[in-house]
Amino acid sequence: MEKFVDIAYLIAAVSFIYGLKMLSHPKTARNGNMIASLGMLIAIVATVFLGTNLDLTMIVSAMVIGSIIGAFFAVRVEMTQMPQLVAIFNGFGGGASALVASAEFLQGADTVFAITAITLSVLIGTLTFTGSFIAFGKLQGIVTTKPVTFPGQQLLNALLAIIMFACAYMILQNSADGMILFYIILGLSALLGILLVIPIGGADMPVVISLLNSYSGIAAAMTGFVLVSTGENSAGNALIICGSLVGASGMILTQIMCKGMNRSLANVIFGAVGGDDSGSTGGEGQQLNIKSYSTEEAAMIFDAAEKIIVVPGYGLAVAQAQHAVREVAEFLEGKGKNVLYAIHPVAGRMPGHMNVLLAEANISYDQLKDLDEINPEFEDCDVALVLGANDVVNPAARTETGSPIYGMPILNVDKARTVMVNKRSMNAGFAGIQNELFGYDNTIMIFGDAKDMLTQLLSDLKEL
Ligand code: TAP
Repeated sequence: MEKFVDIAYLIAAVSFIYGLKMLSHPKTARNGNMIASLGMLIAIVATVFLGTNLDLTMIVSAMVIGSIIGAFFAVRVEMTQMPQLVAIFNGFGGGASALVASAEFLQGADTVFAITAITLSVLIGTLTFTGSFIAFGKLQGIVTTKPVTFPGQQLLNALLAIIMFACAYMILQNSADGMILFYIILGLSALLGILLVIPIGGADMPVVISLLNSYSGIAAAMTGFVLVSTGENSAGNALIICGSLVGASGMILTQIMCKGMNRSLANVIFGAVGGDDSGSTGGEGQQLNIKSYSTEEAAMIFDAAEKIIVVPGYGLAVAQAQHAVREVAEFLEGKGKNVLYAIHPVAGRMPGHMNVLLAEANISYDQLKDLDEINPEFEDCDVALVLGANDVVNPAARTETGSPIYGMPILNVDKARTVMVNKRSMNAGFAGIQNELFGYDNTIMIFGDAKDMLTQLLSDLKEL
C-alpha cells in the first residue's frame, strides 16, 4: 500500500510542476489549471483513503463544506474583486499550514529539526493568515487604505521576530512552560502579520497579496518538513514540493509586478504609493487642452481608420466592458480593419487581469500583444483606443524624473495618429497623477462609462 501512496504523491508532484508550466501561456493556462487540480485530487485521495486511518466522516464533511463555500465565492466574485478572493484563499492556506504544524507540536514533537520547522511554519503561516485578512480588508474598504505608520515600526517587528525565536529556543531547552511559549509564538506571529501589512497603502495590495501567496507556499513547505520530521515522509515530501512551487512562483510574480511598475519590493513595502491622498508630482496643476468628442464623431474617425489598437485598462474591468469591446472590434474587422489589443503587464489591478478579461469575451489570443511587441506598432496606427487605462499610457513615465511612475515602461499610444481616450472624468488613476496625454494635440476624449460608450459607439458605427 505504501508504494501506491508514494507513486500517487509522485504523480501529484509532477502534475503540479507540469500544470504550473502550462499556466505560463494563456492558451494552455486553462488545461494547466485542470492538470494541477487533478494532481491535488490524487494527493488528497492518496492521503485520505490509502495512506492513513483518519476519521473519514469528519474529512468528507469538511471537504464538502469547503468545496461548496469555495465554489460559491469563485462563481460569484467579480473580476475586479479577484485580488480580495485570492487574499482570503492565501490566508486560509497559511492558516491551514500553521494548524497542521501546531497539531504536530501538541502531539509531542521535540527534536531540534521538528521544533525549528514547527516554529517557522507557525510563524509564516499565521502571519500570512492575519496579513491576508488585513489585505482583504484594505481592498474591500473595511480597513483604512491609507498607510498606517508609527515611529519604530520596523524595530518593533524585528523585536517580535527575535522574541519568537527565543521562545522556540526555550522550548528546545525543555522548558516546563512549553505550551505557554508556543502560544506566545502563535500570538506574536498573528500580530506581526497585521503590523507588516498595515503600513502599506491600499493600492499596493495586489503586490502584497502576491507576496503573501508566496509566504503561504513557504509555510506549506515548512509544514512538509514538520511531517517529514515525524516520519510521515511521503505526505511531507509532496507538501515540500507543492509549497516550494507556490513559494517560488509567488516570489517571481511579485518581482514581475514590481518590474512592471518600475519599483523595488522594498519601495512597495516601505514607501506606499496611491494610498496617500496627499497627491504627487507629474505635471500636476498644468492646464490641459481637452477636446471632448461624441461617439458619433468617434465613429466617423473609425470609419476612416485602417489599423486600430485597443488599450484596455482597469476602467474596462470596472465597467465589465469586455464583451462590448469585442462587439465593436468584430464590427470594425467586418469592415476590413485591422484590430489589435495592447496588453501592459500591470494594466488593471492584478497579474494577467486584461488577458483573463478579454479571454472571457472570447477575444483571440493572437490579437493580444504584449508591451514589447505592440509598441513599435503604434507609429503606423490610425487610432489607439484607450479604454479605462491611465497610468500605463502616461508619457510622464518617460520624461518626468519627479513622477512616481518615472521609469515605468508604458504603451506608446501617443505615437498613434489619433489617440481616443475613454474614461468617466478627468480623475487620476492608481498612481494619483494627472496625465498630460489627455491634452495632446492628437488626443480626443470620449467621456462616459466604458460599456455605455462602446454600446453607443457600435450603434453609431452601424448607422454610418
Ligand atoms: P489606472 O491608471 O488605475 O486608470 C484607470 C482609469 O479607469 C481611471 O483613470 C478611471 O478614470 C477609469 N475608469 C474607472 N472606471 C471606469 C469606467 N467604468 N469606465 C471607463 N473608465 C473608467 O489603470 P491602468 O492604466 O490599467 O493602470 C494600472 C495601474 O495599477 C498602474 O499604475 C499599475 O502600476 C497599478 N497596479 C497594477 C497591478 C497589476 S499586477 N495589474 C498591481 C498593482 C498596481 P475615471 O475615474 O475618470 O473614469
